[in-house]
Amino acid sequence: MNGAWWQRGVIYQIYPRSFADANGDGVGDLRGIVDHLDYLNDGTGRPPPAGGALGVDAIWLSPFYRSPMADFGYDISDYTDVDPVFGTLGDFDDLLEGAHSRGIKVVVDWVPNHTSDRHPWFTESASSRDSPKRGWYVWRDPAPGGGPPNNWRSSFAAVGPAWTFHEPTGQYYLHSFTPQQPDLNWDNPEVETAMHEVLRFWLDRGVDGFRIDVVYKIAKDPELGDNEPGLEHDVHWPTIHDRLRKIRSVIDEYDDRMIVGEVYLLDLPRVVEYINSGDELNLAHNFVFVHLPWHAAAFRASVAEFTELAETSAWPAWFLENHDHSRVATRYAGEPGSGPRRARLAAMLVCTLRGTPFLYYGQELGLPDARIPPDRVVDVAGRDPERAPMPWLRPSHAGPGAGFSTAGPWLPVVTDAERLCVEAQQQDPASALAFVRELLRLRSGERALQSGSQRPVDAAADVFCFERRLDQRFLIALNFSSASVPAGLGDDPDGAAVLELSTDPGRARGPVDPRSLVLGPDEGVILRFPAGEAATG
Ligand code: NOJ
Repeated sequence: MNGAWWQRGVIYQIYPRSFADANGDGVGDLRGIVDHLDYLNDGTGRPPPAGGALGVDAIWLSPFYRSPMADFGYDISDYTDVDPVFGTLGDFDDLLEGAHSRGIKVVVDWVPNHTSDRHPWFTESASSRDSPKRGWYVWRDPAPGGGPPNNWRSSFAAVGPAWTFHEPTGQYYLHSFTPQQPDLNWDNPEVETAMHEVLRFWLDRGVDGFRIDVVYKIAKDPELGDNEPGLEHDVHWPTIHDRLRKIRSVIDEYDDRMIVGEVYLLDLPRVVEYINSGDELNLAHNFVFVHLPWHAAAFRASVAEFTELAETSAWPAWFLENHDHSRVATRYAGEPGSGPRRARLAAMLVCTLRGTPFLYYGQELGLPDARIPPDRVVDVAGRDPERAPMPWLRPSHAGPGAGFSTAGPWLPVVTDAERLCVEAQQQDPASALAFVRELLRLRSGERALQSGSQRPVDAAADVFCFERRLDQRFLIALNFSSASVPAGLGDDPDGAAVLELSTDPGRARGPVDPRSLVLGPDEGVILRFPAGEAATG
C-alpha cells in the first residue's frame, strides 16, 4: 500500500476568479477551469510529451459559492449554490466529471467560521433579539462603559476590532474578518448540524475532500474572555478537538475523502494537535513554514521540529504559496535573478519532502506578484498581487487579458506575462513549467518520493539535504544561498549516484559523484542511488 490519494498526489490550488474566464466578463469561472483540465492532467498517463500536462493529482478550488464578494467568495450567502459570476451547479457537475475522468480529485473550500452578512441565517438573526436564529451568531451587549464587548481584533488589521455595533437591536456582533463576515456561533448545536449538512451536500455531489477555512477559529472561549499574553481566547479553544472529530465522522460516512485544515497558528506544537490523534484532520496547512526566512538552517530546523512533534502516523502537508501570501519569486527574491531560481527551489522542496505538496496556480510558471496600481486595488488586506490572473497566452497577440480573458481582467496580469505565460513556457525545455512538469513526473513514478521514509543528511551550512527511501534511495540537496557552494555531502553517501533533476536547466543529468558535487546559486538537485545501497551517515 502506497498511501491514500491525498498522501501520494500533488494538490493544485485554483483561485477560480483568476484561473480562466470562459464567458468573457473579466472574472474566471468554472467553465474556464473545465476548459483547462487537460493542462493540469490529461489523464493519458505518463510520461507526458514535451508540452504535455502538468500532472497534478487533485485540485483544491477556493470558494465559488454565492457571495456578495466582500472577501471574494470567503463571505458566503448560500453554501449550496454556485455564484452566477462563476457559473451554475451544472457547471460544477461538469467540472467534477471532467476532473474525475482524467483521474483528478476535487477538493472544495468549506468556510465554517463565518457567513456573509447577507446569508439568510444572518438577516434572520439580525432581525430581532428574539429571532430563533439569534443564537446562530455571536451577539453581545456593549461593554459596561460602552464600546465592544472585549478586546478581540479582526484578522485584517485594516478592520480593527472584531465587533460591529448593530443599531436596530442595540448589540454588537462578532466578525473575525470584515464586518460583512459575521462569525457563526459554533457553541450552538444547530449551527454545527447545519454546517455538517453543507458537507454532506457536496459529498453527495461527489467531491473528494474539503479545505477547511480558518478551522482553528471554530472553537472560541464561550465566555468571550479578553485575549491576554500567552492565551488567545478567540482561537483554538479546547472544544476544537470534539468539533473536529464530529466533522471527521461526517467525512468518514463516505469512502476515501479528505479534509485539510487551514491551521494558521504560528507554533508547531498546536498545529500537530490537529493531525496527531488520527481522528481529526487528515492534513493541516502549516503556516510556520510560509513565514520562515530563506535560510537552509531555518527550513532544516523547522522540518526537524515538525517531524519530532508529529506522530509517525500523522501525514505532513507542505506549501509555500497560496492566495493570501506574496508569491515565492517575490517574497524570497534576494540578489538580482534569485527570485525565479528560488521559485524552482521552493517547488522542489515542497514536492520532495515526505508529505503532501500543495502548489498554487501559476507557481509552476514561477510567477512573481503582479504590480497593482493604486486605483486597481480591490482587497481589504493587500492580497491582490498574488491573485493576478493566470497568463495563458502572450499579451502581444492575445491582448491585456493574456488568454485569461477576452475582456479586461479583474486584476492586471503580471508585468512580464509575455515571457512568463503558459504559451511561452510550454515548449521551452528550460522553462519553470518544464521543470515543474518533470518534477511531478519523477515524483509520480517513485514510491520513495511519495511515501518513503525521510531523514536529514549532513551537508554544507547553506544546503538543506535529506534522504527519501523506500525501495529506491534519493537524496535531495537544496542550496539556499545565491553563491555556488560545494554541497558538502562528504563521505555520505559514497559511491555513484545519478542526477535525476536539477532546478538549473543547464545542469547535465546522469552519473555524478556526490562527494564532489558543487551546487550552483539557489540550485536544488535530486540524486538517485543504486537500489539496495545501504544508507550511511
Ligand atoms: C482564510 C482565507 O484563506 C482568506 O482568503 C480569507 O480572507 C479568510 N480565511 C476569511 O475567510
